[in-house]
Amino acid sequence: MKTSIDSRLIWLNGIIIPLQEAKINVLSPTSQFGANVFEGIRCYWNDERQQLYAFRLSDHYKRLKNSIKMFRMEDKYTTDELQQGLIDVVKANGYKEDLAVRQTVFIDGFGSWMSKGPTNMFIAPIPKGRTLGISELGMKCCISSWERISDRNISPKIKAGANYINSRMAQMEALENGYDSAIFLNDQGKVAEGPGSCLFIVRDNVLITPPLSASILESITRSTIIELAQKEFNIKVMEREIDRTELYLADEVFLCGSAMEVVPVLSIDKYKIAEERPGEITLNLRDKYLDIVRGKSEKYKEWIFPIYE
Ligand SMILES: Cc1ncc(COP(=O)(O)O)c(C=O)c1O
Repeated sequence: MKTSIDSRLIWLNGIIIPLQEAKINVLSPTSQFGANVFEGIRCYWNDERQQLYAFRLSDHYKRLKNSIKMFRMEDKYTTDELQQGLIDVVKANGYKEDLAVRQTVFIDGFGSWMSKGPTNMFIAPIPKGRTLGISELGMKCCISSWERISDRNISPKIKAGANYINSRMAQMEALENGYDSAIFLNDQGKVAEGPGSCLFIVRDNVLITPPLSASILESITRSTIIELAQKEFNIKVMEREIDRTELYLADEVFLCGSAMEVVPVLSIDKYKIAEERPGEITLNLRDKYLDIVRGKSEKYKEWIFPIYE
């Protein structure tokens, strides 16, 4: 297993090479200005079937293409090429474990922040365990003093490296103040999302999440959770604005995303959520989600893509 950094292989501009040999031009717009768009794609190992499943791969590539379009970058790669690169580099590494794959399309060359190209790409599969340690129940969060970027300045719908400076400001402030993570409000003062995740609350058995127009990423996990809540648990789901104080009064709160999966929020600004115990709806949704991504449910097999023949 090529888990140590020394033996990992990466896909860079069409060739698979040792990670240590993958180099980027320091004067490129990606290096100088964060001129890149990317996806974080999870692959889950199913030991029984000896198969590695990529989760909702075509949805990730649809979003990557959207980011490329909005960023006005040269659109160099077809969806098939994006997918084949991922398959090739995972196979070259021979991974048989859970992965987080970073697939980044970037502006290379010697141009400036307004260059459209040349675009290049790297695909880096990284072995990845669960976000929470076994003993951890969830996260303690604060409302960030930083506002979420909006569609009127840097759209959160573009999954661009540079957007994560906003996330960084919130996360660093939260850690500095003794919290695990932050929750952003948007330019309207309504709840938006976490620095790298979407947010759901439960009030009176209704699952509520901010709408896509609330300055959030069009999250694939968010749409997965909405579908599972309705189809698997017959839970009413509302996409509507959420006030800050509703967070404090919620019966359950959780964050979700490809990297984070589903993580209970135990308190917000030190207001305890359900006595700091993860809620039943959260845990049911988390367990169902983790079964599906690992290919344990026939019903959702269109969401999982087998990497090995
Ligand atoms: C800001 C932000 N919101 C939400 C998400 C969750 O998106 P997804 O479920 O597509 O991973 C992410 C994760 O990439 C993110 O960075």
